[in-house]
Amino acid sequence: MKKAVFPGSFDPITIGHIDVIKRALKLFDQITIGVADRKEKSPIFSLNEREELVKKVTANIKRVEVKSFNGLLVDFVKTEKACTIIRGLRTISDFDYEFQMALTNRKIAPDIETIFFLASEQYAYLSASLVKEIARMGGDLSEFLPNPVISALKKKLKGR
Ligand code: PNS
Repeated sequence: MKKAVFPGSFDPITIGHIDVIKRALKLFDQITIGVADRKEKSPIFSLNEREELVKKVTANIKRVEVKSFNGLLVDFVKTEKACTIIRGLRTISDFDYEFQMALTNRKIAPDIETIFFLASEQYAYLSASLVKEIARMGGDLSEFLPNPVISALKKKLKGR
C-alpha cells in the first residue's frame, strides 16, 4: 500500500490544499494529513481547531486520515509507516523554502522522499495568510475556503 503524509499548518485549510489532496490521491492509496503544531507561527486557530476543521472538510474524501503532530515531520512520517511527504507548489516563490525543507528532511531521513504537486492554476495565488487578511477586512471568502472554515474564521475574528 502506498502511503503518504501531507503536512502543513493548515491555518486554516483552503480549497487549494484540498485540490492538492485530490491530486495526490491519484498516486497514493492512503494519505495522512499531518497538522503541525507550529506555535512559533502564532496560528489564529489552535492545533485542535485546525485538526477538527481539516477533519470536517475532508470527511467525504475517502482514503484520507487527519492527525496532528508535534516534533519533527520525518518522525511523524515514520510513525505513520509512510515514506513520502507531499507538498503543494504554487508559484516559483514557494520553491526556495520547499527546496530547503525537502533537502533538510532528506539529509535527516534519507529513506523519505518529498513529492510536489502543482496546485491548480486557479489556486496558484491562494495563501492562508491572504485569506486571513481578507477575512479581517470582511471580504468574500467563498472562492477560497470551504464553508465550515468560513464560519469558523468569522467566529474566531468576532471574538478578537
Ligand atoms: O503549511 P506550512 O506552514 O508551510 O508547513 C510547514 C511544515 C509544517 C511542513 C514544516 O514547518 C514542518 O515540517 N514542521 C515540523 C518540524 C520539522 O520537521 N521541521 C524541520 C523541517 S525541515
